[in-house]
Amino acid sequence: MKVLILPDTATAVSRVADILAQTLDAGRGCTMGLATGGTMVPLYAEIVARHRAGQLSLAQVTTFNLDEYVGLAPDHPGSYHRYMAEVLFDHTDIRPGHAHLPRGDAPDPRAEAMAYEARIAREGGIDLQVLGLGQNGHIAFNEPTSSLGSRTRIKTLTDDTRRANRPYFDREEDMPRYAITMGIATILEARAIVLLATGASKADAVAAMVEGPVSALCPASALQLHPKATIVLDAKAASALRLTNYYHHVHPDGQESDYS
Ligand code: GLP
Repeated sequence: MKVLILPDTATAVSRVADILAQTLDAGRGCTMGLATGGTMVPLYAEIVARHRAGQLSLAQVTTFNLDEYVGLAPDHPGSYHRYMAEVLFDHTDIRPGHAHLPRGDAPDPRAEAMAYEARIAREGGIDLQVLGLGQNGHIAFNEPTSSLGSRTRIKTLTDDTRRANRPYFDREEDMPRYAITMGIATILEARAIVLLATGASKADAVAAMVEGPVSALCPASALQLHPKATIVLDAKAASALRLTNYYHHVHPDGQESDYS
């Protein structure tokens, strides 16, 4: 696990944007896994800005988002379809039909989850998976106690997660109870992973993910099993880590080094 600690949110976001840009440059026709949530908003704004400046293109990429709320149609204001269109897709040159999300309004959500998993495999898997981190240690919507061997499926959201995402919905009763989410084993099959966490509210989850035991209680700790996982943090999100000096020593200013 590479732990890159940047002084503030802007530099952490820019570091992740660099990693995305390198993957886009390296592989014409690469496949990326994408995340949602507040943390990703400045990242996608940076990608859009770089696209507008002619520095990067999404014309050759295929994307798969991690998750979607069960019951929400793509045009629902709280859906991740809408989020992705508004913060990223509508402002870039991604080709229509090459940005995938599970359909929350599928008549049979279980079948949709299985079909989504199959679609990822048909595309040859994911080259770079972008992740955020829930305050309770979840990745995508794999809530604590999710099987580390899980595949794309339906998960019941915890009260904590529903509370955290409540601001995206007008009324309490609109907040969904279930989501279709890539599983932890699905995520671990990505050839490379980059997780972005910013702010003090993520500090405990970051410490559990990086320095705690591998445990279903902290789903993100499963990333310790991945050979190419990069964790990009701002100073606040890194504030509960114990080996901070070592991470700074190996990756000064969050930069790459010959040996990690
Ligand atoms: C949601 C998403 C996750 C995201 C998490 C953190 O639950 N399903 O993919 O990482 O929230 O969100 P935020 O970045 O808003 O803290």
